[in-house]
Amino acid sequence: MQSQSGSVGPYGSVSAAVGTDISRAAEVLRAGGLVGMPTETVYGLAANALDVRAVAKVFAAKGRPTFDPLIVHLADLSELSRVVSHVPAIALQLAEVWPGPLTLVLPKADCVPDLVTSGLPGVGVRVPAHPMAQQLLRTCGCPLAAPSANPFGGISPTTASHVLEGLGDRLDYVLDGGPCRVGVESTVVSLMGGVPVLLRPGGVGPERLRELVGEYETARADADLDDAAQPAPGMLSRHYAPRTPLRLIAAAERAVPSPGLRSGLLTWGPELEISGFDRIFRLCSEGIPEICAAGFFAALRDLDSAGLDVIIARKFLDVGLGVALNDRLRRGAAGGTQ
Ligand code: TXA
Ligand code: MG
Repeated sequence: MQSQSGSVGPYGSVSAAVGTDISRAAEVLRAGGLVGMPTETVYGLAANALDVRAVAKVFAAKGRPTFDPLIVHLADLSELSRVVSHVPAIALQLAEVWPGPLTLVLPKADCVPDLVTSGLPGVGVRVPAHPMAQQLLRTCGCPLAAPSANPFGGISPTTASHVLEGLGDRLDYVLDGGPCRVGVESTVVSLMGGVPVLLRPGGVGPERLRELVGEYETARADADLDDAAQPAPGMLSRHYAPRTPLRLIAAAERAVPSPGLRSGLLTWGPELEISGFDRIFRLCSEGIPEICAAGFFAALRDLDSAGLDVIIARKFLDVGLGVALNDRLRRGAAGGTQ
């Protein structure tokens, strides 16, 4: 993408500047502005985590409810004590994957504004692996609070163009680090109790997690409770959702279009006899979850903008990153009508 200069408007710019200028991005952050930041998972909407006014802008720009806390990004493990008051031994075991797609919820230090953690005693922290995110964190010198850089509830961005499409009028600069390598958000694990609790499946699959910590618990959403009253924040029933209704089929089910509806198909695996779809997106013919994950959100966006009445998506095998992809599919389909 070409470097563009952007122009000034109510949120700072009408359409944000895009480029690879790390010093400029760091300057924006130090001045309390918002930057679209590439990470290995998805792009983040970054602000200085210790500047409450900048953090408030993140919630406003995304339209995100303040009961859903933000992840704080650090340049490396040695910075943990800046934002965390106590580091249990198990955290160091898990931090073996850093830099990488894992977020740990740990007791927060007083300097972290309550707005970042939605008033909770724990702060979510991670060290992202993308070289540009690393450089940005080192250059700006502050921890960065960053949710995924999409309007609340929508499809996560995996390119700088996706960020501009959703939030281009609400941020000051987008660092273009190319397409995200992992393509699905970080795994979130809480270490606030005795046993690690998986709050969100993500870029570190369950097998690897078990290798790192042995047993762990999994937080389950309670269907009888409102989103704000769930056992952990972020367990929102409908999320990661395209505007087009999304219908899921089992991994081995035959895909057929919905009668009378313009139907799109999101699939993986070998080419089977598929007919009658208006648009087909095949992620990986071998069905390798890591390859499927890298193209997943871009494929959903493509299908969502194709003027379809329904998107039919094949569930992934429940291994590795397939677990996270199925979680996103389920939540993307929740509340849909087709
Ligand atoms: O890969 C990622 O995690 C990306 C990149 C940008 O780092 N970020 C991301 O952020 O996906 P977001 O805000 O879209 O999702 C963060 C999730 C939410 O489900 C939130 O509820 C949970 O992490 N979370 C953050 N802080 C928490 C805390 N203090 N306690 C419990 N859950 C927390
Ligand atoms: Mg998100």
